[in-house]
Amino acid sequence: MAFLDKHKTLERNATLLMVTSLVVVSVGGIVEIAPLFYLENTIEKVEGMRPYSPLELAGRDIYVREGCYVCHSQMIRPFRDEVERYGPYSLAAESMYDHPFQWGSKRTGPDLARVGARYSNEWHVQHLIEPRSVVPESVMPSYSFLLDAPLAVDNIAAHLKANAAVGVPYDEAMIENARADMLAQANPDADTSGVEERYPKAVIADFDGDPTTLTEMDALVAYLQMLGTLVDFSTYDPTSGYR
Ligand code: HEC
Repeated sequence: MAFLDKHKTLERNATLLMVTSLVVVSVGGIVEIAPLFYLENTIEKVEGMRPYSPLELAGRDIYVREGCYVCHSQMIRPFRDEVERYGPYSLAAESMYDHPFQWGSKRTGPDLARVGARYSNEWHVQHLIEPRSVVPESVMPSYSFLLDAPLAVDNIAAHLKANAAVGVPYDEAMIENARADMLAQANPDADTSGVEERYPKAVIADFDGDPTTLTEMDALVAYLQMLGTLVDFSTYDPTSGYR
C-alpha cells in the first residue's frame, strides 16, 4: 500500500524520523502550554485562604528544616479511602502560599494536610517530645530539643518580605507588625487584636506551656494547628464552589 510505503521511508531515515517526531511533539507541547499564558490564574480562588501568620510561617520553616516532609505528606488525594480517613481532599488553593510546597511523596506517618485542631496543643507538644509516650508503636523521632531552642524573632519581617517578593500578599502592615504579631500569637495575655484581624482563625495560645520564652516548639505547634483549618468545608461544595 502506498501509505505504508511512505511510512517505510520515514522509518528508514533516522534524521527524517527525528525531525518529524520533533515537529509532532512540539505541536502537542504548544497546544498544552500556550493556553496557560493567556489564563490569568490557574488556581481557583477559595474563601478563607490567607498568608500564614508570622508564627505559623516560622513553624513552617522548622517543619522544612527538620525534614518532616520526608515522612509526612500534605496532600489528600481525591480518593474515597483518603477522604474518609483525612477529610476533604486538598484544593490547589490550600498550598498557594507555600514556598516551597509540602505535598511530599512518602507517608511513613499519616498525611498532615488537615491535622489542625484535631489534637490539643498539649498532645502535640507531648508527641513531639516523645512520640511513643502517646502512640506506643510510633517510629517517629523525638524532637524534644525544640522546647529548649529559642525562636529567632528578629528576622521575621525579612522573611515576610521574601515571601511577598514571590507573590504572597503580605501587605505593609503585616510586614511592619511581623515581630509583634509573632510574639502576640504565643501570648494570650498580650493585645492580640492585631494578629487576629490580620490573620483570621489564627490559634492564639501559649503552645508549649512555658510563657517565659518563645521557643521553636511554640512555632511548630502553631503551624500544625493551622493546617487544613482555613477553608470552611461545611460551606464548600466541590462541584460549584461556595453554596
Ligand atoms: C521517620 C519518619 C517521621 C518523621 C521524620 C516525622 N514523623 Fe511524624 N509521624 C510518623 C509516624 C510513623 C506517625 C504515626 C505514629 C504517631 O502518631 O506517632 C507520625 C505522626 C505524626 C503526627 C500525628 C498525626 C495524626 O494524624 O495522628 C504529627 C502531628 C506528626 N507526626 C508531626 C511531625 C512533625 C511536625 C515532624 C517534623 C518535626 C514529624 N512528624 C517527623 C513518622 C515521622
